[in-house]
Amino acid sequence: MEDIMTNYFQTYHNQSNWPPIKKPENRVIEKLENTFLRTIQLDYIQLDNHLMDALNSRKSSKEMRVSKTLDALKLGTLLKWSIGMFEDRRMFPSAGELYTIKCLVAIKDLGGVKSGLYEYIPEHHRIAWLGEYQELKKAFVQEDIDFNVCLVLGSDLDRACQHYGERGYRFSLLEAGHMMQNIMLVASTLELAVAPIGGFKDDVANELSTHENFKSMYLVPIGEYID
Ligand SMILES: Cc1cc2nc3c(=O)[nH]c(=O)nc-3n(C[C@H](O)[C@H](O)[C@H](O)COP(=O)(O)O)c2cc1C
Repeated sequence: MEDIMTNYFQTYHNQSNWPPIKKPENRVIEKLENTFLRTIQLDYIQLDNHLMDALNSRKSSKEMRVSKTLDALKLGTLLKWSIGMFEDRRMFPSAGELYTIKCLVAIKDLGGVKSGLYEYIPEHHRIAWLGEYQELKKAFVQEDIDFNVCLVLGSDLDRACQHYGERGYRFSLLEAGHMMQNIMLVASTLELAVAPIGGFKDDVANELSTHENFKSMYLVPIGEYID
């Protein structure tokens, strides 16, 4: 097969910038009555209580505020069990074990840790200083979210596509999704408010990284629930 290196993924990524050109239409509610004619009722068993609790209480917080109790231990616990490493194993799957998604950690207000922009290094369970804190709130579209820390899950797409060509782009998105789900489950166990923000201003978020081709996929504000 001819080996032609294209970069449609770059074009697609740029074209899908925020805000979307197409406005969402009213949702079509599917009629289920007819579908029930050919269905089989399934059964299920209970799972481990902790797992069921984490799954049940997982939620995207549409509002949150700065927590007074969020500290480095809580943040470390969240990162360790969601996207970290334990006995040489990562907590989520990655196509070809490439682990192309980086996690930037923008610390605004965290007990005992200097505010700034860091990168999480899972192999050593450390955060590495990248530079001064830059106000990330202007990357957000919604206003009711204030946070202590905001993670930025993103990828150097050129690197991601080196191995699998254009398909590397799909793999990066899928990998970010696996990481995000883990973050939400561990956050719910720790009673931290988090949100998977996919609708953000790309330019602002991408500027954070020193990597030239860093493309943000998710912003993940972390704070306290507002009931
Ligand atoms: C890919 C993706 C992008 C999302 N982007 C946003 C977003 O920009 N802002 C937001 O408030 N919620 C966002 N969400 C969260 C959804 O709104 C949320 O999952 C949905 O309302 C269901 O709520 P739940 O996660 O609490 O079950 C996003 C979710 C996904 C999967």
